[in-house]
Amino acid sequence: MEQWNDEAFARAWVESNTNYPHSPLREEQMDLMLDILRAHFAATPAPHRVLDLGCGAGIVAARVLDRIAGSAVAGVDNSPPMLAMAREHLAPYAGRFELARADFETLTLEGLPSGPFAAAIAIQAIHNSSDEGKRRTLASVRAALAPGGLFVLCDRIRITSAAVFPSYLALWDRLDARYAAQGWQVGEGRTFVEHERSVTERGDKPGSLEQNLLWLREAGFVEAAAVHVVGVRAVVVAVAPR
Ligand SMILES: C[S@@+](CC[C@H](N)C(=O)[O-])C[C@H]1O[C@@H](n2cnc3c(N)ncnc32)[C@H](O)[C@@H]1O
Repeated sequence: MEQWNDEAFARAWVESNTNYPHSPLREEQMDLMLDILRAHFAATPAPHRVLDLGCGAGIVAARVLDRIAGSAVAGVDNSPPMLAMAREHLAPYAGRFELARADFETLTLEGLPSGPFAAAIAIQAIHNSSDEGKRRTLASVRAALAPGGLFVLCDRIRITSAAVFPSYLALWDRLDARYAAQGWQVGEGRTFVEHERSVTERGDKPGSLEQNLLWLREAGFVEAAAVHVVGVRAVVVAVAPR
């Protein structure tokens, strides 16, 4: 986690994840997340309050504010350089966002004046936490949501065994061939060992899809479903009880 407090590291991540050409899957899943939020808010009056866990530099929050009329975003992150970039990036949306420095594993509504929230999102953020930390985070999100609130989790998931790794390779080879002309590379390692090493070296600790769904239910969500999974990237939705 300390890596996010390093300004150069945070800036490099933001630079390579802001624009479309760096990851077609990130872009597609962010667009899907926006469609899901739009559908969720369709029957309710604005303001549509969204909690963004691990908001980083506000790249995703800006899209929510841009594309969802009547939305307001509360972004939480515990990296000062990320929050500084977010403040800059979100300046054009003054009055529609707030930022808080907090650890999302131990978030409370008292620390977030605009809650409870009709929706929450966590984009490529909670895989930074230990399994216990992820479970605490999901319980925090659930507590911050209004009855019937929707949580959209877009995150990396863990490949659970060497036995299934060749199937991921087959998928990555197809995607890499499809995106080669644009210079995109989706594949992550040629062997399971190499793949696991790269995940660990990045400091990532993703849970498997099954674990994430189980943890969401344990955290008190009444429904949890994976709506879009491509290789190790998933969009999972969960609904808080009414
Ligand atoms: C990979 S970046 C993603 C940023 C943003 N969601 C996006 O997709 O552009 C992960 C972010 O999660 C934040 N983060 C990781 N663990 C956190 C924690 N326990 N509490 C708060 N923020 C955390 C990091 O500081 C970083 O800004």
